[in-house]
Order: sequence, then structure tokens, then C-alpha cells
Amino acid sequence: MSTRSSTASVLFVCLGNICRSPLVEAVARQRSAQAGLAVTFASCGTGNWHIGKGADPRMVRAAAAAGYDLSPHRARQVRGEDFNAFDWVLAMDCDNLETLVSVRDGRGAPAELFLPWSGLRTPMEFPDPYFGDMQGFQEAVALAERGVDGLISRLRAP
Ligand code: 4NP
Repeated sequence: MSTRSSTASVLFVCLGNICRSPLVEAVARQRSAQAGLAVTFASCGTGNWHIGKGADPRMVRAAAAAGYDLSPHRARQVRGEDFNAFDWVLAMDCDNLETLVSVRDGRGAPAELFLPWSGLRTPMEFPDPYFGDMQGFQEAVALAERGVDGLISRLRAP
């Protein structure tokens, strides 16, 4: 049985749920509210290392500089029921997608790649900034904004 609500809902998924997916969640929440779009957003990770922790401090800093507040975020791991609870489950990269396909095990919403789903041709995968420098985190913010603008256009389309 589906547990979906009447409001459209999107779950963003990365590996640790401390960098990319919480960033995209915060950007999507802010920009969709500005666009007057009623959509529920959430995020999670395929891995279990950071469950219960806040977003990476470098990601928090880069997001804050662009006006996005990641301080309330707490990481959680994806679970099978997520595919019944959300309309779309969008992975940041192909590794995440592969894991999601096996967790989904045929139920509910299909798992797809976030950036192509949002209409971006390049890049197809959202680069992981975790092992890089601050510039990678700043670039992640700009890419999240591009992806979210595409996602909002898609959700708005009749
Ligand atoms: P995220 O980044 O998937 O964008 O949250 C990462 C966070 C943590 C790790 C890798 C990527 N890690 O190896 O702990």
C-alpha cells in the first residue's frame, strides 16, 4: 500500500547524506517556496557511517554563504519504504543509483539520476566534494542551484 501524501514529494540521495543531498534538499526547499510550488523534499544516504550527524561543516559553510541553512539537517540512511513514501527518488551519482535499485527491490517509485531527471545534460553525475577543497563545495552549491531550477521547471510542466 502506498503511504504517499497528496503533495508531490522528492527524496534526494547521495552516499553519506552530509554533503550533496542535504545541500540539494535545502536549495530545492528554498527555491520551490519562492516559486510557490508545494512539494515536500527530504534527503538520505546509501551509507550508514554518518547516521544522526549534521551536514559536513564545509558544506554548511559554502551553503550559508549562498543563503541556505543546513544546520537543522541530520543524516539518515535510505530504507525500502522510502520508495512507497516518495514520488521520486533521485540519486546524485551512478554508484548511489545502483545501490538504490537493489534497496528498492521492485517497489514504488523508480530511482533516477538527479541531474538528468532535472534536464541537465552535463554533468550527469553530481561530483562528490567530500575529499576535495573548499572550491569543490562552492561549485556544488552552483550545481545544486542549476539542478534545482531544472527540477522546478519539470515539476511545473503540465
Ligand atoms: P556525500 O559525500 O555523499 O555527498 O554526503 C560524502 C560524505 C561522506 C563520505 C563520502 C562522501 N565518506 O566516505 O564518509
